[in-house]
Amino acid sequence: MDIFEKCRNFTAAEEYQERGLYPYFVPISENHGPRVVMDGREMIMIGSNNYLGLTKDPRVQEAAIKAIEQYGTSCSGSRFLNGTYEMHMQLEEKLARFVNKEAAQVFSTGYQTNAGAISTLVEKKTIIITDKTNHASIFDGVFLGSALNPRVTVKRYLHNNMDDLQRVLEAVNPDLPKIIVTDGVFSMEGDLVKLPRMVELCQKYQVGLYLDDAHALGVVGKTGRGTMEHYDLWDEVDIVMCTFSKSFASLGGFVAGKKEVINYIKHFSRQLIFSAAIPPANTAAVIKALEIIEEEPEHVQRLQEIGAKMRREFQAMGFDTGESETPIVPLLVRDFDKTFGLWRALFEAGIYTNAVVAPAVPPDRSLLRTSYMATHTDDDLDRVLETCKKIGKQMGII
Ligand SMILES: Cc1ncc(COP(=O)(O)O)c(C=O)c1O
Repeated sequence: MDIFEKCRNFTAAEEYQERGLYPYFVPISENHGPRVVMDGREMIMIGSNNYLGLTKDPRVQEAAIKAIEQYGTSCSGSRFLNGTYEMHMQLEEKLARFVNKEAAQVFSTGYQTNAGAISTLVEKKTIIITDKTNHASIFDGVFLGSALNPRVTVKRYLHNNMDDLQRVLEAVNPDLPKIIVTDGVFSMEGDLVKLPRMVELCQKYQVGLYLDDAHALGVVGKTGRGTMEHYDLWDEVDIVMCTFSKSFASLGGFVAGKKEVINYIKHFSRQLIFSAAIPPANTAAVIKALEIIEEEPEHVQRLQEIGAKMRREFQAMGFDTGESETPIVPLLVRDFDKTFGLWRALFEAGIYTNAVVAPAVPPDRSLLRTSYMATHTDDDLDRVLETCKKIGKQMGII
């Protein structure tokens, strides 16, 4: 049997390309933040996670350039051996303060942060309890943790359903170590975890809580400190993680919590120890982005206002925006081909969105994911709304 047979048999991508309906790996030739150039045309970008628009902030760009001049383009090794720079330590201190935790550990990507922190924390008989729709990097951390510790038990509960979570908690052995892992803001539909009830359950059943705030820091909470700030529940969350590839305008990620927990992850995570450190430019960009978020709350406020406007207007037109409470506003289409069709029609009209279909979401929740930046202009947003209304009606979606 030829191992490559499945590759030859995979033709779906080409088929959609031939029909002009393939929405993935579309190259960008110029990036101006809320506007990009694709296929030789300027487009309004509503498919990015650059929530605060800071990737194009001159201060962030300058910090990255200076870091390259001073320290070079790579750390050329792992944090563990030769790749720890003073700026990494400085960033970790700032991040821990930002999220109100004792300590933080930076990883080279958000994906590695989840894979590393989760797989390192679980041991022999741990019970990991996860929302069914958590991000893939959480699941990969869970899979890795269970592969390394075959007696780990993994339980999933229905999306954001606290009754189902309670059902799971009641059924598991109370004497074994347990951890709940959840997104703070769910990445595809922009809904918020029901943290108050989850915290009550954690306390009742003595479960640790791990919160992935990748789409929440810089986005929710009055000053952008995420889900914990939104609900004013800080100490109740044991571990919070976030990536730098969204509000923080860079690449990398971190996990924060009690000193001893972070110290353990630091010394045992293979994803940290056996992978090169986040480069100087990326580190300096996050430090500057964090300073801007702390000193200029108007960016977070503007983003939240834009999110509220877009949800309100889309709902008024008849679009189904699910349970979104954030600037991630899904347009639920619930049909695979129609989702690709809507994506293409908007693309032709100069608007770039993300088509999200199974297996990323259940088949009956195929959607266009739209997401906004603090730097979008009102004119661009109005054009998005008008165009979506016109095309949505033509296609019978609204
Ligand atoms: C909820 C969530 N966690 C983790 C990650 C991984 O972060 P990164 O893409 O920066 O590696 C993402 C990114 O898509 C995410 O959406």
